[in-house]
Amino acid sequence: MLKYICVLLISLSAVCYCQDSVTDGTELLLTFLIHRHGDRTPLTSSLTYSNNQEALIEASAQYGYGQLTDAGRRRAYQLGQHIRRRYDGLLSPAYNRSEIYIRSTDSTRAKMTVLSAMAAVYPALEDNWSADVNWTPVPYTTVPAKYDFNLATTNCPYLLSGATFDTSAALPDLSEYTDALDQWSDYLGFNITANLMYAYAINDLYTAQLSLGIPLDPAIEDIYPQIEKIAGIALDWLFGNGDTVTLQAGVLLNQFFTVADQLIAGEDVQRVQIWSAHDLNVFAFEGVTQVAEKQGVPKYASAYALELRQVTETGEYVVVPVYLNTPSEDIVTYLEITGCGSLCEYESFRSITADHTLDEDTWRTKCGFSEDMEIDTSSID
Ligand SMILES: *[C@@H]1O[C@H](CO)[C@@H](O)[C@H](O)[C@H]1NC(C)=O
Ligand SMILES: *[C@@H]1O[C@H](CO)[C@@H](O)[C@H](O)[C@H]1NC(C)=O
Ligand SMILES: *[C@@H]1O[C@H](CO)[C@@H](O)[C@H](O)[C@H]1NC(C)=O
Repeated sequence: MLKYICVLLISLSAVCYCQDSVTDGTELLLTFLIHRHGDRTPLTSSLTYSNNQEALIEASAQYGYGQLTDAGRRRAYQLGQHIRRRYDGLLSPAYNRSEIYIRSTDSTRAKMTVLSAMAAVYPALEDNWSADVNWTPVPYTTVPAKYDFNLATTNCPYLLSGATFDTSAALPDLSEYTDALDQWSDYLGFNITANLMYAYAINDLYTAQLSLGIPLDPAIEDIYPQIEKIAGIALDWLFGNGDTVTLQAGVLLNQFFTVADQLIAGEDVQRVQIWSAHDLNVFAFEGVTQVAEKQGVPKYASAYALELRQVTETGEYVVVPVYLNTPSEDIVTYLEITGCGSLCEYESFRSITADHTLDEDTWRTKCGFSEDMEIDTSSID
């Protein structure tokens, strides 16, 4: 009967309540969530790929390049609504520093995103602090880009040298997208399959452009869904493997274990941990946590959370990987950890990810960090 109702629900609407059966019989103890910032204007470096640079320049003018837009603020707010709904049990109505840890990269769009999201997590209460201001200030913390383990693509010389990228690596299988690739190559005037590293950057421009309400060239408009998929495959090929993901997200994963261990040991920890960052961070976190099926280029304000839960009946601790593709649809996907499933026993999860966990000092050493090095932050400014 239950199965029948589920099938009925799936066919009647996009919302599948049955999905929550994954977490049935468990108690949520901790969530460790990393998200991408909301919609932004394009990066200066990518403008040249636009079919309508003029309109794009005009639409970006009020924000500046690489900045959160109004659409981005709204989507960030929706992310906050999702966080409040899903983690309501861990959060008091009013901000309490003992319950939530919030850290952003030192990037304007990431910081503004988390501020917008927190406006939804902590709406003004009846007895609010001001008769005039219908908003609650919620603080986040950040560290300078040079020292932030979530900004390895700006501050990890070894990663930036390309040494972790296997240049002889075969091109990924794109046979499913032959027609779209041909059409896209014709349009671009070069063979995109042979220059796959551009697929990610060009898609990034298209996404920003569409969010600003400027249509793509009709010659490629119809293949945008395939372009998004191709960009995801390109991203995985470039950034999704081995040391490349470990250097980008290994310290973050280590941070998860530190907090989860403390909690299991009975220490007081902030049970909601929010990390405001970038598409590469969300993607690399999927990599280090050995997600069986990666979710492509993370969309604006998408989020990936590791939830630490305890099985009520057995007392066993489990890790549940939860993906929010876009906060505009409040539907989460329970991902699977390779060889461990959607409800992965805590110590098994630790062994499966052991090769991708890094403490901060080791990370710095591996990166070849030096105090006097200068970093280029243009990609996150
Ligand atoms: C804040 O949260 C902590 C941990 O749950 C709790 O012990 C404390 O009483 C809370 N403080 C307030 C003012 O609600
Ligand atoms: C905040 O307080 C002011 C003044 O007491 C009140 O007018 C306003 O409605 C309150 N905001 C909310 C969301 O309750
Ligand atoms: C484009 O490049 C790919 C990979 O190098 C190659 O297999 C394909 O034949 C090329 N297509 C054209 C039209 O040259």
